[in-house]
Amino acid sequence: MSIVVAPSILAADLGHLADEIARVSEGGADWIHVDVMDGHFVPNLTFGAGVIAAARRATKLPLDVHVMVEEPQRYIDAFADAGASHFIFHPEATRHVQRQLAAVRERGMRAGIALNPGTPLDFAMEVVTDLDILLIMTVNPGYGSQEYLPASDDKIRRARRLLDQYRSSARLAVDGGISPTTIARAYTAGADTFVAGTAVFGAPEPVAAIKAMRAACAVKV
Ligand code: DX5
Ligand code: ZN
Repeated sequence: MSIVVAPSILAADLGHLADEIARVSEGGADWIHVDVMDGHFVPNLTFGAGVIAAARRATKLPLDVHVMVEEPQRYIDAFADAGASHFIFHPEATRHVQRQLAAVRERGMRAGIALNPGTPLDFAMEVVTDLDILLIMTVNPGYGSQEYLPASDDKIRRARRLLDQYRSSARLAVDGGISPTTIARAYTAGADTFVAGTAVFGAPEPVAAIKAMRAACAVKV
């Protein structure tokens, strides 16, 4: 299966957001990852529907919206209207996970859940047939530039087994501390979709960084 690289605009130069998105869109990105944070579910505050709409105007690539907010169901309609392609939320932040996944799909978006490092994989097992994307957080969400947590390798392996066991075609994504150095271990463990903020937009040449990540998977350890 071919890999997906999804640069996170959290690390982009927000004063030139459209240019930053255009640059990676033309330079090998597959999806554009948008981190929505509400200052409650995670300590940080970031973007809402306005920025999703601006990103939508800047690229034709899928917008992979990672919703780190309490009660994420409140934003399904607004983000669909703004042009989100994927709506990935945290099951820790809502009571009716299966219902919300169905609601996301009804709005024409691909549905996913993201699991914090301390959240058991069992959360995914119960809704595996409703998932288009399973996102394993490889840092605690809230900020860019954190280090990949080594315990993630084993969780990714177990997530891969879970998806295979249910013959799921969901993408298995990882997010946090992914770089040309760490990507191979996540890929080898079974991830196929890689979110990277600092490693792409913090690099002197973002396009070269995307290429370096693909190359690191091609020579997997
Ligand atoms: C973390 C966000 C990530 C973040 C990753 O809370 O969900 O998407 O942008 O940033 P890096 O790649 O710098 O760890
Ligand atoms: Zn994210």
